[in-house]
Formats: sequence, structure tokens, C-alpha cells
Amino acid sequence: MRKGLFEALKEYGDSDHYPLHMPGHKRRGFESFNPYNIDITEIEGFDDLHDAKGLIRDAEDRAAALYGARRTYLLVNGVTGGILAALSALTCPGDTVLMARNCHRAVYGGLIAADLKTCYLYPEYAGCLMGGIRPEAVSSALSENPHIKTVIITSPTYEGFVSDIREIASICHEKGALLIVDEAHGAHMHFSGCFPASAVEYADIVLHGAHKTLPAFTQTGFLHIASDRVDRGRLESFLRIYQTSSPSYILMAGLERCISFLENEGKESFAEYGKLLEEIRGEIGKCRAFTLADNEYKGKAGIYDIDWGKLVIMPHLSLMTGYELAGRLREDYHLECEMADRTHIIAMTSVMDTKEGLGRLVSALNQMDKPAEYISEGMHKFPLPKSVMTMRAAFTGKAEYVGIEEASGRTAADLIYAYPPGIPLVAPGEAVTDQILDVIREYRDQDQDLKGLFGESRDLIKVVI
Ligand SMILES: Cc1ncc(COP(=O)(O)O)c(C=O)c1O
Repeated sequence: MRKGLFEALKEYGDSDHYPLHMPGHKRRGFESFNPYNIDITEIEGFDDLHDAKGLIRDAEDRAAALYGARRTYLLVNGVTGGILAALSALTCPGDTVLMARNCHRAVYGGLIAADLKTCYLYPEYAGCLMGGIRPEAVSSALSENPHIKTVIITSPTYEGFVSDIREIASICHEKGALLIVDEAHGAHMHFSGCFPASAVEYADIVLHGAHKTLPAFTQTGFLHIASDRVDRGRLESFLRIYQTSSPSYILMAGLERCISFLENEGKESFAEYGKLLEEIRGEIGKCRAFTLADNEYKGKAGIYDIDWGKLVIMPHLSLMTGYELAGRLREDYHLECEMADRTHIIAMTSVMDTKEGLGRLVSALNQMDKPAEYISEGMHKFPLPKSVMTMRAAFTGKAEYVGIEEASGRTAADLIYAYPPGIPLVAPGEAVTDQILDVIREYRDQDQDLKGLFGESRDLIKVVI
């Protein structure tokens, strides 16, 4: 019989496997404690997330002061809950949202929940990697569609590419639209000059996944109101809908502990982290078999800046694929990456990383290193699907399951995506084309687990009747 989840986790936690993935606490807490001992409900003296006036409100206000936000809310249903609330708060059913096509599936969920239409901004490619969103693209989309009042983009991307948020925000505001930035992967950027500036300085609502790059428990984050243009009461109503009515005090205490760390030790720790990243990036940059996405990406494909904390490593394909590299790092060096694709791996770092942990990555790459021809191979470029009906109508209406071979020309009724990164290959309401089906087949041939396929052999697609 398989061992239980708790037993398996304890065993793994005691092993020497090193996390190059989230959560950002890197399994090294600040102090040990018994979680049962602090797991309470809303009892006298411990405040209420949904009407915060005491200890929880203090934590929110301290986070707002740290980031320079007008108001910050603790998130315990992940960034997902915050994105759902932000989209609902800034729109009415039937509105159109200008969104980057490389948004996370949470944004698509928000469009379904709030019954919104979409106008897409398509990121460009920098080699095999998806880039950023150019301000000019936002400007022309808003000029062509003056009825659009809400814009949402992801920055940094999963690969750490940051768009020119300052300019994009200024365009949005000039044209009377509000900007939501899904900065799920950038909660750390505010704390060191070696990272790009946070969108909190420019946008209207900014989402942070504290658990992704800061020492905080999985599922936790911040929603920041970053301007005076947001109706707080409306946002709070939606947060009450999309966040659990039983928020975990363990998760909220973890966020408060993270805030204390940033207040008291942030400056010093981030300075050391910056130095360590510089060293590590320098060492990886010397490898002949691996290319590290670095400063040369700035200015290309809508990429304004890059987050140094993300190590995007492209093995030279004459030697091995990204899947093979991740497999070797796991098997031979006990290093677990955040993500692997055919062309690259992503190793996520955080302020909690140790010199030993990241050093192990450098020596593993050095041991595998040899002169190898760089073969430039574009990732199966994401298709540019066309919407033919609203996401909500397609997702909630009558649907049937058809084989991949028969799906061409039909309208998708569900999201199909690889996770990570959770960017849909096709979304509900979009036409299923031969090109999309080819990409789905390619993933399946590579044994990649795609979400949104049905049936025992995962060869059925849900389409609108
Ligand atoms: C860019 C982006 N946005 C939003 C989310 C959702 O965050 P969470 O898992 O905290 O709900 C993710 C998750 O990986 C993400 O990568």
C-alpha cells in the first residue's frame, strides 16, 4: 500500500532534496512551532479577516506601509482569490477586459465568474521564451476599443520578464482605464535595487503571491490597492465572496511573520541575496552547455526588465532537453526544479536560499558542462486563438466530449493548459483550430500532463454543443 501523504511529506522534508521551486520559505521556517497549537477560529481578541480592525488589520497596514500601497489585504485563497475579487470589483457583467493572452488560468476563471468579454494582447517571443507586453500595444488596443475600462497583465511572467508597467499604467489612466497587475511572482522585487520596480508604484490593483518568492506559507498573498481610483467597499464585498469564511490563522500568522522579517531583517537579507544571485548567475553564465536568460533579453519582445531571482536555464539541445536536465538534477543531485519544458528549466530562488543549495546547482551544471552546439528552437509558439463566444457562456452552457481528431472547428468549453505555467492553449469560447490540436498532440507525445483533457486516455476535449 502507498504511504499516506503526511508520512510521505515528513520523509521528503527530512531528505536532502533541495527546492528550486516555491514556496519561497524553501522549507526553512523561522522557528519551529506546533501548528495545532495556533490553529484557532475567530475568537475574541484575534480579529476577523473579513472585517479586520485588530491584529489582522495591523498586519495589513504594516504590509501596506512596506510596499507603499493605499491599502493591503491578506490573501489566503492564493493570488487566485485576489484576481477573482479584483476583476469582479472593477467590472460589471458583459464588460470587456483588455488582457494579456499569457495570463494565468486564474484570470480566465475571473472572466468566467464575472461574465466578461476579452480583447487580447499577445506577447511576443524572445527565442523560445514568451516576452512582455509593449506599451504601444496597450495604447492601440485602448484607442480601438474606447469602451474598455479594465486592463490586466502579468508582470513578471513566469520566466521573470517584466513589462514597462510605468508606461502602461500611464497609458491606461490617460485613456480612462484601470490597470490590474498580476505580480504574483514579484512580491520580493520591492526589497532590493537589483530587482525591477514593483507595479505598486504605478498600477491600480497589484496582486502578490507571498508564497511564491517570500518566506510565507503556500496559498498566501497580498492584494494591494495602489491608487485612489478603486472602490474599496466593492472590492471588500468581492473578497468576502472569493475568500474562505474560515481563513486559517496559521496562514495569516505566517504572513505576519513574513512582514516582520521584511521590516526587521529585509534590508540585510536582500543585500546578501542580491550578492549571492550575482555570483550564481556569473558562474552559470560561464557554462558552455547551458544558456542563462540574462540582461541581453532586456529591450527584446516587450521585455522591459528581468527578475534576477528566476534562473531560466536553456540546455543546448544537441546535448539534452529541458526535461532531461530537470530529470538529471533530480536523480543525480537531488535538486527539484520549479518547471521544465523541452527548451528550458526554471529554477526559482528566494531570499531564503542557502549558498550551499544554489552552489549545488552550480556544481551540478559544471559537472554536466561541455562544449555543445546551441540549437535555437522556438517553443511550439502559443496559438493565437479567436474568441467566438463569451467564456462564461461556453463554460457553463451545454457541452459534449469529442475526440481530439474531431474537435477541429468546434468551440472549446473548457481551458486546456499545461501546469505550470497555467497559460491556456485554448480557453472556453475560443475556436479549436488544427494548430491548437497540433500543439496538444505535441505535448501528449512528450508525455506532458495537460489539464482540461477528459476520458481514461485523456483524449477527449469538451466542446460547446
Ligand atoms: C502569474 C500567476 N498568477 C496567478 C497565479 C495564481 O496564484 P495562486 O496559486 O497563489 O492562487 C499563479 C500561480 O502559479 C501565477 O503563476
